[in-house]
Amino acid sequence: MLYRWQLGTPPATLTACHHRRYTRRWKMVITLLARLFTEPHRFSPAMVFANSNSRLADNQQIRSKLLSKQKSEYGTFEATVDRSQKLEADLIANPGKYRVLTGDRPTGKLHIGHLFGSLQNRVRLQQLGVPTFIVIADYQVLTDRDNFESISENVQQLTLDYLAAGLDPANNQTIIFPHSHVPELNQLLLPFLTLVTSAELDRNPTVKEEIQASGQKRINAGMYIYPVHQAADILFCKGNVVPVGKDQLPHLELTRTIARRFNDRFAKNEPVFPEPQALLSTAPVILGLDGSQKMSKSRNNAIMLSASEDETAKLIKRAKTDSDRNIFYDPDARPEVSNLLLLLSLIEGGDPTEIGKEIGDGGSGKLKARLTEGLNEHLRPLRQRRTELESNMDYVVEVLKGGVENARSVAQETLSEVRKVMNMEL
Ligand code: TRP
Repeated sequence: MLYRWQLGTPPATLTACHHRRYTRRWKMVITLLARLFTEPHRFSPAMVFANSNSRLADNQQIRSKLLSKQKSEYGTFEATVDRSQKLEADLIANPGKYRVLTGDRPTGKLHIGHLFGSLQNRVRLQQLGVPTFIVIADYQVLTDRDNFESISENVQQLTLDYLAAGLDPANNQTIIFPHSHVPELNQLLLPFLTLVTSAELDRNPTVKEEIQASGQKRINAGMYIYPVHQAADILFCKGNVVPVGKDQLPHLELTRTIARRFNDRFAKNEPVFPEPQALLSTAPVILGLDGSQKMSKSRNNAIMLSASEDETAKLIKRAKTDSDRNIFYDPDARPEVSNLLLLLSLIEGGDPTEIGKEIGDGGSGKLKARLTEGLNEHLRPLRQRRTELESNMDYVVEVLKGGVENARSVAQETLSEVRKVMNMEL
């Protein structure tokens, strides 16, 4: 511990011994500062969070250094958007070249933000004829919440939403499964963990955000390594396209690194894993009905896919708007009204600015009436399928068991290839 007097003004009588001590301590401080700037990755922010809530982590300079390092390593966002657009075009031309892997944590039923943000896109990829694996990441739930009682129920409700939205395992091209039931997938985690450094895990910005959001003071190791587990989710089936939102890009970049390092280390001549690409969601972020934040069930500002038409009408009626009677689209100045217009545009397929002009001084009453009718109509077939399936939960369980069986046979093949190249066959 360095005390102020040890660094500052020396005591009145200065001996040679004192002198040496001061010089040594100042040197230590200077070296430490220099290392902080030249090797910021050594000052692991995750550990800093873990040890205390940290003067270091709050230091803006260190933060911005870390961020710029992340940027150069993960590639620029613009480059990723560009690659994603090229991939989109090729998927349409050559669907057979690709295998989609994507997934969700089973934290509850899905809402319309999920439908417009990801489900509709998954159904579109399925219709293009791209084989699609959907992992229900139940182990990931354990990393950031205490509640495990409802996991099994949530897995079933999530599957219901998938099926109602049009994902169709009966075509044998779409596989839905919880990863906890595929031991061979989970076993890939062990070799993969040896291919990343703890500094790389420390730097993951999405994990840092989740740690902060979950309020964890002591980070469990599952939270710390889950991006490596996610790499196993993606690589077990040699998925080469991963439809994701921006927040998942660091995980995908790590997956690409793991695939590359695995091939370099164990399978130089015949690579085992592809380097998967991100297919970035182009859907706009849907705000909650309070207009201020992302739609989410836990914030109580969502319209669930499973809601009834009456419930939907009530929720829209209560949705926040503003005092200007004239309706027009301006997301910065009028986020609440513009969010409702955006929803209408997603449903009707038109342009939100045009729809705003059409409604004009009809006011929020007219806007809400049109949205209620449009949304209920849009969701009617989905909700009908959902209700039918709900009365046949055996089918839902069957879908999951079939998904596990398919996923396991793919995972077994991959694991035996992996064992072979690692020289671990008996
Ligand atoms: N981490 C993802 C989420 O929180 C869920 C997920 C788990 C995932 N495994 C995946 C997404 C593999 C894409 C690919 O939403």
